[in-house]
Amino acid sequence: DSEVKNICCIGAGYVGGPTMAVIADNCPSLKVNVVDINEERIKKWNEKDFDRLPIYEPGLAEIIKRCRNKNLFFSIDIKKHIESADMIFLSVNTPIKKSGLGKGQASDLKYIESSTREIAKYAKGETIIVEKSTLPVRTAETIKSILESNDKSFNNQKFSVLSNPEFLAEGTAINDLENPDRVLIGGENPEAITALEEIYVNWVDKNKILKTNLWSSELSKLVANAFLAQRISSINSISAICETTGADINEVSRAIGMDTRIGEKFLNAGPGYGGSCFKKDILNLVYLSKYYGLNEVASYWQKVVDLNVWQQHRIRKIIVKKLFNNLTSKKIGIMGFSFKANTNDTRESPAIQICKDLIEEGADLRIYDPKVNKFQIEKDLEQNQFNDNGEGSWTLCKSIKDIAIDADAIVIATEWEEFKSLDWSDISRLMRSPKWLFDTRGITNSKDIKQHNINYWKIGLGDSSSNIKFNF
Ligand code: NAD
Ligand code: UDX
Repeated sequence: DSEVKNICCIGAGYVGGPTMAVIADNCPSLKVNVVDINEERIKKWNEKDFDRLPIYEPGLAEIIKRCRNKNLFFSIDIKKHIESADMIFLSVNTPIKKSGLGKGQASDLKYIESSTREIAKYAKGETIIVEKSTLPVRTAETIKSILESNDKSFNNQKFSVLSNPEFLAEGTAINDLENPDRVLIGGENPEAITALEEIYVNWVDKNKILKTNLWSSELSKLVANAFLAQRISSINSISAICETTGADINEVSRAIGMDTRIGEKFLNAGPGYGGSCFKKDILNLVYLSKYYGLNEVASYWQKVVDLNVWQQHRIRKIIVKKLFNNLTSKKIGIMGFSFKANTNDTRESPAIQICKDLIEEGADLRIYDPKVNKFQIEKDLEQNQFNDNGEGSWTLCKSIKDIAIDADAIVIATEWEEFKSLDWSDISRLMRSPKWLFDTRGITNSKDIKQHNINYWKIGLGDSSSNIKFNF
């Protein structure tokens, strides 16, 4: 009987956790085991207090409440759950290589290789391996060679490898998983493809399930992220033109987005994209292009990353310049630390570099983020809270009021909903003059801010309190 009953997912991270939760929730007859080598993370997935799960995503805790220890289990017993699985998802991390060939660009496949070796060691009978992680094109070949090099006769092993990249975005993961634009399945074995399709049809419309060959599927994931990031770099490049010419980025975004060929999504200018995927996946594409001798293609995509780095530097320079190039002992409030709203993830968050720079200039930062904890910020800023080494420092505050007290400036670094409708008269009263607001996400209303005696700089609009535009 080839019906899938037991699923194992290797990797209990931002993809493995939410994806398996949604599968378990929609497929009550399946047993889903999520395993990880990180004991601490598994412990948190098994927390009684649902506010302490390792990942914050709107709607996730409710699903965990419904399914955990019914048909969804989190465990460190990798061997046991590989042995009993009919289908194994690989959702391990694939960061950028830190050393060796392809350093700083190519994907580091050490976690894919180690988990595949575990599968080769323990799997029994027919097992379908599903690549969920984002991988360079032709990784399925590597996985197959590792699996096939094993003596399979002992456990009657038979493997099929599928590519099923995940397109969820953090902050909207549950909604994206429940209502995907498409589900992509790449593979060679029709029975394996059907087995995976049968899982998705429990909640996804059949005509949204796209089947391709393995390599198209692997490549499409990199290309989707490259195209999305390219839109952000494009609009960010235009934000700088707006700031120097008097055009308003919101008006430009709206004007071009109403062209149905362009579309309105992903046209928000900001402090440069963050997150664990865009930079890594484009650099991966750049590496791949170079590997195949396609140097023009490589430099084309490299520019999307370069522009993002430039945008991040640009914002930091503006903040320092506006505060008279002197931040020593100035109090600066930072609104938001995560890389986007509705997530506790800070990987590649533009807030990290902004904060590091302001601290280096001697500022005392007061950070407020509704979901990011102190330990994470400590790790990201490579400095403890209240550090008093004569340079700048940072403190995590519990409220917006706390970050505003005596502040010379406030920087909006993340577009959390609660920052969109603040009472700026209250905030202004607490601040020290001359007061500044730097809105790097373009979520506040200039008229509202200026009437409360706050100098105002906004992405794609510039310094609205003077007509003098800067040159960079
Ligand atoms: P993550 O770091 O949050 O989680 C990966 C987990 O895998 C970690 O907990 C790690 O301990 C575990 N792991 C590593 N090696 C292991 C092994 N040998 N055995 C068991 N567990 C092991 O990463 P993530 O954000 O979930 O991303 C996973 C993959 O999905 C990456 O390839 C990423 O590019 C891709 N992806 C991420 C997103 C996203 O929004 N984060 C979206 C789509 C695709
Ligand atoms: C991205 C892809 O969207 C998702 O499909 C893929 O599976 C993983 O990578 P994610 O990084 O979680 O998802 O979030 P996303 O919404 O894409 O935002 C990435 C970064 O771009 C954030 O820092 C966000 O603030 C920024 N962004 C996004 C903009 O600056 N402007 C926009 O218009 C959209």
